[in-house]
Amino acid sequence: MAFSKIDLRNFRCFDSLSIDLSSNSTLFYGKNGSGKTSILESIYVASSGRSFRTSNLESLIKKDEEAFNIRAYDDKTGSILEVKKARNKPINIKINNSKVTISELVRAFPSFSIDSKTFFYNDNAPDYRRKQLDRGLFIASPDYAKDWFGYFRSLKQRNSALKFGDMAQAKAYDQLLVDHGERLNTLRENLITEVKKIYDDLVIKLAQENTRAHIFSDLEIYLKSGFDNKAGLLECLNNSNVVDLKRKITTLGPHKADVLFESKGLLIKDIFSRGEQKLLSILWSLSQNIYLGRSFNLSPILLLDDLSSELDGEMLECFLPTLKYIENRFVFSNIVDLFGSKIINEKQSYKKFHVEQLN
Ligand SMILES: Nc1ncnc2c1ncn2[C@@H]1O[C@H](COP(=O)(O)OP(=O)(O)OP(=O)(O)O)[C@@H](O)[C@H]1O
Ligand SMILES: [Mg+2]
Repeated sequence: MAFSKIDLRNFRCFDSLSIDLSSNSTLFYGKNGSGKTSILESIYVASSGRSFRTSNLESLIKKDEEAFNIRAYDDKTGSILEVKKARNKPINIKINNSKVTISELVRAFPSFSIDSKTFFYNDNAPDYRRKQLDRGLFIASPDYAKDWFGYFRSLKQRNSALKFGDMAQAKAYDQLLVDHGERLNTLRENLITEVKKIYDDLVIKLAQENTRAHIFSDLEIYLKSGFDNKAGLLECLNNSNVVDLKRKITTLGPHKADVLFESKGLLIKDIFSRGEQKLLSILWSLSQNIYLGRSFNLSPILLLDDLSSELDGEMLECFLPTLKYIENRFVFSNIVDLFGSKIINEKQSYKKFHVEQLN
């Protein structure tokens, strides 16, 4: 499901606000402090029960008010989502009047955000890229979620045995780690291979329209498994007994995985400029969004806050044709209006809102 309309009450700077989203791209533009990030954040909160900016949901309640409310509607299914957060109370989420958990919510209304952290995806620690990858798979595939929990539960127990120097006890979890871990690895690898095909296709199309897009072609993007894939996880665990015992932790496995972006053997983070890194992250996230939508019968909303920060005019021109290839709802913000230029394709239904006028 995906939101077509969203109503806010007492959310950050807004008393009340009602927005109809486009089924393609929706742009919110306006000056600093007008409320662009707040609108994107409300959509993320409504579809994940969390903020992409803060762990303190209470700070999202409008100053001097007691609670915020979000109502979102899906015009295709007629579903209504209600999210309420009152001060000193946990968040309350209902779909069609029935209370749901956060796991149920993220699967019912998936959304992904490209925010300031994602812009420099390649500069972050491996942990960040792994979490981004896992979140996509987690939402898309309940089997993946089962293996993920199975793997990390066994890993915790194995590490706790290693802490006490009990190798025999630690080894008792190896088969569980191998069963869950190999499946996690295969699903991650498959996701990256499929997203890469969509990414390559997108970059070819962009390069036909703008020569600057060539920099994004011929990249090697692949999963570093966290263990020697050819040898298999069981052999790797056996071979690392001595090191694991010494370090008191499981040193190899899918929990050490990373997604590597390289150009001619060099890491992208070492060669790309900030603007190039940002656009690469956006193109990769969009490709993942298209893949999840096509392959898992989902309609994931993609949120992008502050499109043009760090991008020069040419880089922005290089990106704008991408809007023609987006397959799910894309909601993004920018300081200035971007539509009205040559990127508009009459077949697509773009919407734009000047945020100061919404207040
Ligand atoms: N809990 C709150 N109650 C009232 N106002 C708030 C609250 N939280 C944030 N604000 C205010 O809401 C306004 C909008 O903030 P927001 O971050 O959405 O702006 P923005 O349009 O994204 O700006 P920028 O272009 O600088 O990123 C700001 O003036 C901010 O101070
Ligand atoms: Mg902002």
